[in-house]
Amino acid sequence: MAEQAAVLEDRAEHDRDDDVAVVAVGAEIAPGYRVAEHLRRGDALDVYAVFSDERLCSCVAKVVRPDRAAVERVRRRLAQEGFLLQTLTHPLLVRGLATFTQPEVVVIMETIPGPTLEEIIEDRASRLAAAELCHLGSQVAAAAHYLHQSGYLHLDVRPSNIVSHGGIAKLIDLSLARPAGPVPRGFGSHLYMSPEQATGSHVTEAADTWAIGATLYEAAAGIGPFDAHDAADAAVLDRDDYLQLRRPAPPLRRFGRRLPSGLAALIEACLHPDPQLRPSARAVWQGLQEVLTHLGPAEPAAPGLAPGQPVDGPASP
Ligand SMILES: Nc1ncnc2c1ncn2[C@@H]1O[C@H](COP(=O)(O)OP(=O)(O)O)[C@@H](O)[C@H]1O
Ligand SMILES: [Mg+2]
Repeated sequence: MAEQAAVLEDRAEHDRDDDVAVVAVGAEIAPGYRVAEHLRRGDALDVYAVFSDERLCSCVAKVVRPDRAAVERVRRRLAQEGFLLQTLTHPLLVRGLATFTQPEVVVIMETIPGPTLEEIIEDRASRLAAAELCHLGSQVAAAAHYLHQSGYLHLDVRPSNIVSHGGIAKLIDLSLARPAGPVPRGFGSHLYMSPEQATGSHVTEAADTWAIGATLYEAAAGIGPFDAHDAADAAVLDRDDYLQLRRPAPPLRRFGRRLPSGLAALIEACLHPDPQLRPSARAVWQGLQEVLTHLGPAEPAAPGLAPGQPVDGPASP
């Protein structure tokens, strides 16, 4: 119940005016870390680019927003994220470098240079090629599989939580990570959360499979499976309801993509309403590796995600 109230409170904060000061450039945000730039403001947290005196390099700092500083739950969650980021080690998961808990909670991470997948999807005139989708998906599935093996679910896989650099896509943002179990209703990001997160029931590794599917779907189609596809969808979203509880994902072929059938089928399998019928993260990784080995010579071989890499467009009618 308290957790459900917290989800609603986070949402109310998000809707509020963001007229709250950020830490000034040059100020020390934690011992040895000076602010270079304010990068993002989320529901409860601020993200800064900082410079480390100890390492003489840029890092990223995540802190509680000043207007949420008194909320013990937000501080605890961020400290937990810092602990996880420093404990878990995988080349495709952002690495935590330090966590300060006094006087404020500050989590220092490596900087992953490059755009988020959200920015890549927005900037691209055409869509990710099949090979790029396979490389992207297998990297995210590998990071998710590692998290699952370590006893955690990510629960917020989505394009803005994937940063890509030089063909390497890394998963960030462990702010919702937790072991399998019950979650409050609406725990996650509206357009990417699994039906079981939307209804607030027991979540398992399959919730991350769903989000990997929704993310790959959006990268393939240019629109997410549970974005508004028509006026009826828009009405559902307008009343803060969940499309993933009202209709299935439209088949990817509707968007006229020339995707290998195995790839489209795998993405769609991730979005199966029954969590028990979704593939595991390992199976997604395996399936994408198999699609890659069968891609014909017409498909680009380069594992690039950065803008400028070869892409394929919509199929001709
Ligand atoms: N380590 C990082 N390297 C590069 N950019 C990052 C990093 N961490 C966060 N960002 C940027 O900040 C944004 C918000 O960070 P995130 O950890 O997702 O916070 P929130 O919990 O508010 O969503 C990301 O979408 C990304 O643009
Ligand atoms: Mg995020």
